[in-house]
Amino acid sequence: MKLTSTSVLTVFNLILLVSVTGVSAEPRSGYEFIKPETRAMQDDDFSNPGLIAVARGEELFNQKYEKGKACADCHGAEGENFDKKRLTRYPVYKNRTKEIITLQKRISNCRKTITDTPLETDHPDLVALETFVRNRAHGEKVNVQTDGPVAELLTKGEKIFTTRYGLIDMSCQQCHEFYTGQMIRGQKISQGQANGFPAYRLATGEVANLHLRIQQCMTLLRAEPFETESEEINLLGLYLMSRSNGLPIETPAVRY
Ligand code: HEC
Ligand code: HEC
Repeated sequence: MKLTSTSVLTVFNLILLVSVTGVSAEPRSGYEFIKPETRAMQDDDFSNPGLIAVARGEELFNQKYEKGKACADCHGAEGENFDKKRLTRYPVYKNRTKEIITLQKRISNCRKTITDTPLETDHPDLVALETFVRNRAHGEKVNVQTDGPVAELLTKGEKIFTTRYGLIDMSCQQCHEFYTGQMIRGQKISQGQANGFPAYRLATGEVANLHLRIQQCMTLLRAEPFETESEEINLLGLYLMSRSNGLPIETPAVRY
């Protein structure tokens, strides 16, 4: 459905008339806000469409690259050599280079040691590998670092989260903290948690990782989305994941 900016604005104005429900401190997974049939789809391995990306990721993980090595040679055919607890820490901050390393970036860096043909960020193959690797830690609790040098980055990320953007002129916080639980175009607004990502989106028929989902929400705001690999998207992604600390990793979640 193609909406004009005016009709979108009308929808949002309706929301603004509804009383503010207040900020709930407890993180709640997006799973609690989706329809029961979507929850059932996520829970059933035969109907969760996100598992196709996991299977594709596994295939790529076991494929030999031109230097004769596969990811599986070092990490195990099913990624069983990964330390799940460490996977729950992504995105991580590398103090030496002052860089936020997303899981995809870590994968991409490792991939560069076995092939000379790097993939651009968010290439479907990288998203599939990311989905497969993240799924290895399914059920483990998100555990992003929040102290030390990361604290300052989270303050910056929160600033972005609370800044208004776009033609709609709303902040992430307004929808995902103040209007949590309200309906918008037939969907319940969740807290905008990150624990399900990469997730399968029924609306697009694709698996999106967290950064892609952020960009999609910004498009919804009729804002120019933060660029892939920009400092803003890295800071916001880190902040969103830190808000999900303690929630179980659901990758691949199913979301509208
Ligand atoms: C030659 C061996 C080798 C190959 C091949 C390899 N890796 Fe790695 N990988 C490593 C090592 C060594 C580390 C660092 C582990 C550590 O820091 O303890 C690592 C780290 C990682 C991590 C971070 C894990 C963590 O605990 O933080 C991920 C994710 C990863 N690799 C994914 C991949 C993927 C996906 C591929 C294939 C595209 C791949 N690796 C190919 C050896 C390899
Ligand atoms: C006008 C309301 C609105 C604003 C403002 C908004 N979003 Fe969303 N967002 C939604 C809706 C609707 C969904 C889909 C239902 C849900 O999960 O909340 C969503 C979903 C999400 C999700 C997926 C949650 C899940 O569990 O699948 C994330 C992450 C997210 N938004 C991040 C953001 C970020 C970051 C911003 C600010 C750049 C933002 N949103 C601004 C309405 C909004």
